[in-house]
Amino acid sequence: MRLKDKVALVTGAGGPMGMSVAKRFAEQGASLIMTDISGSRLAQGVEEIEPLLAKGAKVFAQRGSVLVESEVDELLAGSREHFDRVDIIVNVVGGLWLDAKYTPVIDVQEERWDMCFTVNMKGIFHLTRKLAPAMLEKKYGKIVNVSSIEYAGAAGHADYGAAKAGVTSLTRSLAEELAPHVNVNCIAPGIIRTLALKDVGQAVADEFAEKNLLKRMGEPEDIANAALFLASEESSYITGVTIPVSGGLWPGL
Ligand SMILES: NC(=O)c1ccc[n+]([C@@H]2O[C@H](COP(=O)([O-])OP(=O)(O)OC[C@H]3O[C@@H](n4cnc5c(N)ncnc54)[C@H](O)[C@@H]3O)[C@@H](O)[C@H]2O)c1
Repeated sequence: MRLKDKVALVTGAGGPMGMSVAKRFAEQGASLIMTDISGSRLAQGVEEIEPLLAKGAKVFAQRGSVLVESEVDELLAGSREHFDRVDIIVNVVGGLWLDAKYTPVIDVQEERWDMCFTVNMKGIFHLTRKLAPAMLEKKYGKIVNVSSIEYAGAAGHADYGAAKAGVTSLTRSLAEELAPHVNVNCIAPGIIRTLALKDVGQAVADEFAEKNLLKRMGEPEDIANAALFLASEESSYITGVTIPVSGGLWPGL
């Protein structure tokens, strides 16, 4: 088992992407701390995780927003009742704010601009500040962030592209600040079959599938497999990188 005895915190764990990460990690022996803003999705997630847990592994789930510091504090206080540490963080929460339709910067309202940066970066900020000190002390930690291939520029989604560039930049900065015992890496998905599909629309998803080299949409399991690699010892000599998981589409306009 590749994550035997490890404790992994997954944000957005009620959605298909976070759920798939949590499942993959549970199958590999990890205990899970799961959080999501949706209590019903989270409860469903826990039901699906429990049968997959290895002997001695546990799951703790708490509803809350990772964008709100007091809610992150509550999550971590709750998790301390079950676990004495967090070895792995997978920061899944993020996304286009409001809607996915093509919106040039000149039409982006200030609220959307601000929220887009908050939604994509604040959770990583809070969790890193609160959990990295213990990782440094224990000389062990793996942080996996989720960006997007749009980080390299995304006309019509410029706010999202810039926020996701922020995620890749933060990954690189943290890799340096937390080295040499904590690995910090990032995944840049293409279009993945998640709850976001209803915002993006099937037509855009089909166009993406046609454009990429592997001629299909990404599945949540594609992201979970990359996250598992980055959370496991197999990637112990890798830090500060962003891996596109996008069927061969390279980030860029
Ligand atoms: N789906 C895609 O095509 C795609 C492409 C590129 C990047 N991404 C990135 O992947 C990540 C997952 O996105 P998704 O929408 O596809 O995932 P998803 O559909 O799997 O669900 C995301 C989950 O996050 C939860 N969530 C939202 N805000 C939260 C908050 N403040 N605190 C806690 N939980 C919260 C939601 O309730 C939902 O369950 C995001 O960072 C997104 O930007 C997705």
